[in-house]
Amino acid sequence: MKIRVFEDAEDLGRAVANRIANQVKKNPGAVLGLATGGTPLATYAELRRMHAAGVIDFSLVITFNLDEFAGIDASHPGSFRRYMELKLFDSVNLDPRRIHFLNGAATDLDAECVRYEEAIASTGGIDLQLLGIGANGHIGFNEPDDTLAARTHRVRLHDQTRRDNAALFGGNPSQVPREALSMGMGTILKSRAVVLMATGARKARCIELAVNGPITTRLPASFLQLHRDVELYLDRGAASQLTRRR
Ligand code: GLP
Repeated sequence: MKIRVFEDAEDLGRAVANRIANQVKKNPGAVLGLATGGTPLATYAELRRMHAAGVIDFSLVITFNLDEFAGIDASHPGSFRRYMELKLFDSVNLDPRRIHFLNGAATDLDAECVRYEEAIASTGGIDLQLLGIGANGHIGFNEPDDTLAARTHRVRLHDQTRRDNAALFGGNPSQVPREALSMGMGTILKSRAVVLMATGARKARCIELAVNGPITTRLPASFLQLHRDVELYLDRGAASQLTRRR
């Protein structure tokens, strides 16, 4: 794992946006895996700025988002789709036909997961997968458990995760859906490159365990140790408990 530590969340966001811009410069039709949450906001703000300044052209880029809540449709203000529209899609020249999202309102959610996995494969796979990390070590919505799913699947969200996502639902954890759809661990690990971002001391313990702890389904991010091309972009807080950097 390559570890880069930045002064603050803005510096980190700029660096990740540059990493994405370089990928798109090298390959204008790059397949990007995108994440939601608070952590990527600075990255998306910088990508909007770069696009407005003519520095990045998204016209051929293909995107797949990691996950989505079940039981709400794309127009719901709490949906990750809506988040992405507000933070990125509506402000850059992505071709809507190249934007891929899990449909949490599908009548057959299992079939929806199969459709998504096939759609990713049909593009040749994800070139660069962006990840945040949950306070319990989840990536996407792969929650700590006795077992993890390899492919895109339905997940029962932990209470902690529902609390962490409450801001999207008027601050009320009970309004956060109990279920979600998420790329699986295998889907994520098949990406050619992974960039995981984390900010704040609240994530420091998880980051230390993900980098230097055992590989365990109890901390899904620890599986990233098995991938050949993972970069961690951390601020000082998130890096504050690292005992070794490898
Ligand atoms: C949600 C998303 C994850 C994200 C996590 C962390 O649970 N499904 O993909 O990494 O939130 O969010 P934040 O960046 O706000 O800490």
